Amino acid sequence: MTKKPARKPASAKPARKAAKAPAEAATETARLELDGRRLDLPVLTGTQGERVIHVGNLRRELGVSAYDPALASTAVCRSGITYVDGANGRLLLRGYPIEDLAQHATFVEVAYLLVHGDLPTLEQRSRFSDLLNQHSMLHENMRNFFGNYPEGAHPMAVLSAMVVSLSSFYPEIKLDTDREEIDITVTRLLSKLRTIAAFSYKKSIGEPFIDPSHRYSYCENFLNMMFQSPVSRYAASAEDVAILNKLLILHADHEQNASTTAVRMVGSTGANLYACISAGVCALWGPLHGGANQAVIEMLERIVREKIPVPEVLRRAKDKTDGFRLMGFGHRIYKTYDPRARIAKAICSQLVRKGRITGPLGEIALELEEAALADPWFQERHLYPNVDFYTGLIYRALGFPKEMFTVLFALGRLPGWIAHWQEMRADPSQRIMRPGQYYVGPSRLPYVPIAKRR
Ligand code: SDX
Repeated sequence: MTKKPARKPASAKPARKAAKAPAEAATETARLELDGRRLDLPVLTGTQGERVIHVGNLRRELGVSAYDPALASTAVCRSGITYVDGANGRLLLRGYPIEDLAQHATFVEVAYLLVHGDLPTLEQRSRFSDLLNQHSMLHENMRNFFGNYPEGAHPMAVLSAMVVSLSSFYPEIKLDTDREEIDITVTRLLSKLRTIAAFSYKKSIGEPFIDPSHRYSYCENFLNMMFQSPVSRYAASAEDVAILNKLLILHADHEQNASTTAVRMVGSTGANLYACISAGVCALWGPLHGGANQAVIEMLERIVREKIPVPEVLRRAKDKTDGFRLMGFGHRIYKTYDPRARIAKAICSQLVRKGRITGPLGEIALELEEAALADPWFQERHLYPNVDFYTGLIYRALGFPKEMFTVLFALGRLPGWIAHWQEMRADPSQRIMRPGQYYVGPSRLPYVPIAKRR
């Protein structure tokens, strides 16, 4: 085979700003050879032993880019917030195992942990709770917005619009905003998102809004705003409050998932925090991401309605020509059981035992899981239940309609989004995210006047 003449390195590009060296010193290097040139790329190692090759200067040094269309092999940042061990099914939030947090903490404590970096003391938790209560009301003018949505408006549409509208009523966080003001904005978001979620539900069923009350804890307040009414004697049970705390904790953060990356991407332009969170809400809505919890229930309802046998469901899931997917199964990172799904499944079993999950949906879910986990096609692809497979069954048992499931995911994920937005802003190596591409379109075409076009 004739050896191609070594290509001249791409003409020296205008000097590109060197990507800032991260705090971790390179432990080793990876050698790249191209066009007769060698480039030793630093290899950085995280605290859990995962390694990354720093390619930030590839364009500057060699005039080429790395190509990774779904970012499956790309680390877009260094982060100390959450660690996901996909091979072993481990999840750490600020170093704490998700199992311990779900068992011992409240969601407010986990939100504080994510936003402030450690679990709160009694005094810090009390002050955080006071701030959450203080900022739980919605501006009266914003309450009027709900009236202009049609009855069938999806709560995620309302949530994303209302969140970004908060920027019209409350001051933006600037790059030099002091910590006190940032804390107020963060608790304002955490508290008002909960109120917006409850109001969007009440609007969808034509019932009057139930205002937040200082008498209740975060989760109890939300349940009360959702299910209280002027003619009911609803009182949130301790069991439901405990379950909702656990579910929100399970969703609180999950490193660089699509919606968190959207928050970071929008934040990298300097857009205000409300706009970033609204972008996160929109990204989460997709059925491949947070929208999967609603899609799982719709899938189970369809299987029951159409009496589709489980083997037929799995056959369709494997058939590339069939648009069917086993929703709630598979994960980009977990190649074993999602630890959150394990906790959600245990909650499901508890509710089945208490007769709060009845009917065929729960049975079908268990049958599907058992059959898929025993199926070589699923085993070869390391497809396991993810966080969304069981959570919808629990939300239903608590009384939530399926259209609210992804809103609940957003409520849980909010402190994670905020923590990543804060970390991105404080990271000196972060600049506006502007990925490249490689162009496959036409070269220079002559312009044809419209009279001559055929
Ligand atoms: C969340 O990133 C996060 O951390 C997300 C999340 C978070 O906390 O933020 O964990 C929350 O979004 C969980 C995922 C919820 N989505 C779903 O449950 C939707 C169903 N799952 C799939 O669409 C899929 O598994 C994804 C989207 C979750 C992951 O997609 P990937 O990593 O791109 O995997 P893939 O599509 O490349 O699949 C690899 C193979 C393919 O088959 P082959 O081409 O190798 O033959 O597995 C198959 C896929 O066809 N496959 C599935 C499947 N998931 C993957 N086949 C049937 N049903 C599925 N659910």
